[in-house]
Amino acid sequence: MSARQRIAPVLGFATVGALSLGLTACSGSGGDDGLTTIGFVAVGPEGAWREANETDIQDTFTADAGYELKYAPATNLDQKSQIDAFTSFVDEGVDVILLSATEATGWEDSLKRAQEAEIPVILLDRGIEPDDTSLYVTRIAPDNFEVSTAVADWAVSAFPNGANYFVLEGPAGVSVVNERNEGFDAVVGGESSFVRVGSQTANWSTGEAKSVVETVLKSNGDDVQFIFAQNDEMGLGAVQAVEEAGLTPGEDVKIATIDGTENALEALAADELSFVAEYNPLFGAMTLDVVEKVLAGETVESSIVVPSAAFDSPESAESALAGRK
Ligand code: AHR
Repeated sequence: MSARQRIAPVLGFATVGALSLGLTACSGSGGDDGLTTIGFVAVGPEGAWREANETDIQDTFTADAGYELKYAPATNLDQKSQIDAFTSFVDEGVDVILLSATEATGWEDSLKRAQEAEIPVILLDRGIEPDDTSLYVTRIAPDNFEVSTAVADWAVSAFPNGANYFVLEGPAGVSVVNERNEGFDAVVGGESSFVRVGSQTANWSTGEAKSVVETVLKSNGDDVQFIFAQNDEMGLGAVQAVEEAGLTPGEDVKIATIDGTENALEALAADELSFVAEYNPLFGAMTLDVVEKVLAGETVESSIVVPSAAFDSPESAESALAGRK
């Protein structure tokens, strides 16, 4: 019996999500081989965090586990390629769609089509804007507001007399970028001794972040004490720029990042970075649990938070590195 044939009980689900999703009866056919078909509209190559996340999803939804995962990474982060993949999954009648959106806006029509086709959609990591929870089952992700608030709280304790700071942002239009700004500003925004000398996107990239920070240090006469990089790769670029400016990362300029990748923890262990807030990428098991609940007609929360840690010292980084996947 394919997953779709099992979905009939979803009507139970209809009481919660489905009502909002308008799920009335099931039409997908699932795999002829009895495997449950999952369409994964993914981001694709984008750095260490993304690789860890998407590999974990692919390692979870295997044939042995009863699944056929159709992995569709975006072409050069291009949203149109994602919408095309999403559309073909709906036309194909997959059992469930997983979506990690490269852009937050522009998903209403696609999500409504999935709804009409009675295909539950689960958001992974990235959110949509406007955040209409009636258009998807749940979003599984660490809490970006909370993760960046942890960075801000650390900064306030690390700089009791305040600091001139700069923010390296991810790409414009990505939900997590907005959420991380909100969380950070909610704390530092209220601190008059913290002076924002600027912010700029560096597209999650080490190289772009290096050149942005080189310019910032030159134009501010090195009078920048703190850099908040919204991901590890950009933070490592900031370290390079600070060093090439003849300054000492961790002393003259403290750099905090988000993700918790191996390279960043090694840089923290070496005192180059000063704080790393983990954005836990390993949520394959949680996603599997949700998929099974949804297919069994159970209800799930519209937001499921993946727990994440934070590292504020070389020692904490070293112990984390010891057991890292
Ligand atoms: O959406 C999560 C972000 O995307 C990660 O923090 C970043 O490294 C990735 O590219």
